[in-house]
Amino acid sequence: MELRAFAEKVLFEPKLSDKITRIDESLTDQVPGDALRVTLPVRPPNLQFAARKTAPAMPKAESLKDLKKRAIAHHVMANHELQALEVMAMVLLAFPEAPADFRMGLAHVMFDEQRHTRMHVQRCSELGICFGDYPVNGWIWQKAQDFSNTLEYVAGLPLVFEGANLDHTVEFEQYFSAAGDRRSAAIMRAIHKDEIRHVEFGLQWLRNLKPAGISDWDAWTGALHWPIRPSKARGDIFQREARLQAGLTPEFIDQLEAFDEASS
Ligand SMILES: [Fe+2]
Ligand SMILES: [Fe+2]
Repeated sequence: MELRAFAEKVLFEPKLSDKITRIDESLTDQVPGDALRVTLPVRPPNLQFAARKTAPAMPKAESLKDLKKRAIAHHVMANHELQALEVMAMVLLAFPEAPADFRMGLAHVMFDEQRHTRMHVQRCSELGICFGDYPVNGWIWQKAQDFSNTLEYVAGLPLVFEGANLDHTVEFEQYFSAAGDRRSAAIMRAIHKDEIRHVEFGLQWLRNLKPAGISDWDAWTGALHWPIRPSKARGDIFQREARLQAGLTPEFIDQLEAFDEASS
């Protein structure tokens, strides 16, 4: 299957299963086609982006002892994963001239995002809620509308949202373990491992795409669109080792950890 057709399937098929099922053909990129900017993905009626405040907030910590709250957490995270997948498909269509290695690498990350979505959807239903029973927001998708080139994409999605997820996956693994929910905890551990590779992919392409002579930090922060800023790229339990494994330098990690929201 051509990358373009794969991206179109993710963005334009109305059925969730068509978006998140792994294709069984190999991928080619012979005809990237003309640039196409998709402003809204096609989704089933029960997964349309709702106004931000109408979707349930992410339950945290102690409240996750409650099974229903855990189901809602998986519901929220399924939507995060689905948006990441959709943003990546959007990038494939918007930047057909991007390097072939970047495009094919991105498609393989999309296979992971499909799998992550499926894991959360399944766990959510095992805990008694169908994905789509509650409103979902479109925050990640909306922020991705600002990406005007592939450098801004790698700065904004892999190095911010997926970077923060290095922390969030560990936080939720701990919350679920504390609740005695080993299955949910195992899902978070699996996603954490994949996310290290996804951040690594973003970092490699930041380095490939940035102007010569500019540091990783300056290239990264210079490619972000407000209100996205370095503090959005970390969670509550800072995972230094995971960031080192992704290839970030100790200096970069120090700057990220010390970044002061107030002075930005
Ligand atoms: Fe993911
Ligand atoms: Fe990811």
